[in-house]
Amino acid sequence: MKKIGVLTSGGDAPGMNAAIRGVVRAAIGRGAAVVGYVHGYEGIICDETTPLYFHSVGGIIDRGGTILRTARSETFKTYEGRKKAIEVLNSGGVEGLVIIGGDGSLTGALKLHEEFDFPVMGVPGSIDNDIAATDFSIGFDTAVVCAMQAIDRVRDTAYSHERVFVIEVMGRHNGFIALEAGLSGGAEAVIIPEVSSSLMEICEQMKSAAERGKKSSIIIVAEGAGNAKDIAEFIQKKTNFETRYLVLGHMQRGGSPTAFDRVLALRLGATAANRLLNGFRGEMVGVEGTRLVSHPLSYVLSSSREIDPEKLLLVQTMA
Ligand code: ADP
Ligand code: F6P
Repeated sequence: MKKIGVLTSGGDAPGMNAAIRGVVRAAIGRGAAVVGYVHGYEGIICDETTPLYFHSVGGIIDRGGTILRTARSETFKTYEGRKKAIEVLNSGGVEGLVIIGGDGSLTGALKLHEEFDFPVMGVPGSIDNDIAATDFSIGFDTAVVCAMQAIDRVRDTAYSHERVFVIEVMGRHNGFIALEAGLSGGAEAVIIPEVSSSLMEICEQMKSAAERGKKSSIIIVAEGAGNAKDIAEFIQKKTNFETRYLVLGHMQRGGSPTAFDRVLALRLGATAANRLLNGFRGEMVGVEGTRLVSHPLSYVLSSSREIDPEKLLLVQTMA
């Protein structure tokens, strides 16, 4: 391959820039040119490109967000949209594509591969960490650290005022951020979409903890499992504890990536480019333990990541 493309798509995630750097410098090292598509798949359809040279990706390893911007493209979800994208890729002499994004973006990549036999390589980028066949997606660690630091701060004031705080973290369909942030922040309960929780039971636990002298509590809720305001109101009504709530929202998606996310992103980006140039296609690179792996996108997208029940139990044991 003489020229490959790279894009970021869907929700942004800290570390996407490091992944772009990994792709670009690995490909250039192999003698291939790289073009960046701006605004995800929409950028292919509109032929919105930027050439990516070795120096273009200097000074971005520490930057959150994505220099290529990102977008959600409804046109690309249609067959006609994807056909147009393939025409643009072909006319630009782009022979392969690295897609950095979440499960939606990877679904789009699989379609390019299956419908048009176009060489694609996926890189998992999502703070939610809900992509199968990899232990970690780019951005998850940074989002968890962000949430954990917020919990640490809130705990100080919760302790001083003897209050209950309900903190809502991201995770529309899953509780990976909630569970990891809850454990690392020492939360008393974690409410996630995968498991049904009894708010009454949580209230009873807080009441008996108060009798033992524990006067403040932190409850973490994933956005897909409930609304922090409603939960806080419920708790205050049932327990009479003074309760406050906080929605962390998009601050979890921004900020400088952690060392873990930077290294993960560089490794995954470089591996994706190398595998594409080695003739592999239709895969997603990932990490299992400390080992880099690559699985067919069809396998990745028909599998799911499960919450670790041992970690859930640990939240209860620690509370
Ligand atoms: P994420 O990649 O973070 O999961 P989305 O689910 O919004 O984010 O997907 C990002 C983009 O990927 C969509 O805007 C669309 O262009 C493309 N995409 C998502 N689902 C599909 C699909 N079923 N078929 C084709 N393209 C898709
Ligand atoms: O998928 C990542 C994520 O941050 C989810 O946790 C969240 O529900 C969603 O994206 C928010 O997306 P938007 O960009 O539409 O606000």
